[in-house]
Amino acid sequence: MMNHLEKEKQLAAKEAVKLISNNQIVGLGTGSTAIYAVQEIGNLVKQGFNIKGVATSNKTKELAKSLNIPLMDINDVNFIDITIDGADEFNSDLVLIKGGGGALLKEKIVASMTNVEVIIADSSKKVDTLGSFPLPIEVVPFAANYVIRELFHMSGFGKIRISNNQPFITDAGNFIIDTDFGTIADPVYISETLNNIVGIVAHGLFIKLANKVIMGVGESNTTVVYQ
Ligand code: 5RP
Repeated sequence: MMNHLEKEKQLAAKEAVKLISNNQIVGLGTGSTAIYAVQEIGNLVKQGFNIKGVATSNKTKELAKSLNIPLMDINDVNFIDITIDGADEFNSDLVLIKGGGGALLKEKIVASMTNVEVIIADSSKKVDTLGSFPLPIEVVPFAANYVIRELFHMSGFGKIRISNNQPFITDAGNFIIDTDFGTIADPVYISETLNNIVGIVAHGLFIKLANKVIMGVGESNTTVVYQ
């Protein structure tokens, strides 16, 4: 039987996909929640919707291809109508932590080009204060230890993400430093400070990028919208 968080992810994804109109350019998110949305978008394509997808990762690109969703290169579009993506944490100001799946760089670029950024989440992702989930920070490998020392000066404890006993490598060939800042009371300050550290390519704080969060509520089989 499907556990309640999976059910909530599905509920949120179904609700979000209802916001897509025919002939739109749609950003396709990455992660276990976004997968449900991409599958629903595949169903829209099957029904005859003329949708063009822009994938936020190589993984999502492969999934979209397998579902016959036509894809566009991001450099061939000026904007994206709507993007549906997941998050690792969100608060009531719609500030997000993203990057648990390692796709934060492309996700942030896509979100920045998107008119309506819709985040889908299960109920475990809603927090009062961000920071229980270590903040993913994408760095060029050459700068990894320098950045870790700079993070330490900000009271952040960063560890290079490991996968199969090797540093995890992003789609852009970079490392990810998962960083424990404790509770993040001032995400704007952390974000701006990180933006000024050379070697950091992108970090997982998404501020003023999400237009709404649709959260599944398993008990009542419904969704709640934060906007
Ligand atoms: C990938 C992401 C994902 O959206 C985030 O990690 C949430 O993933 P999931 O839906 O599997 O919990 O930011 O880089």
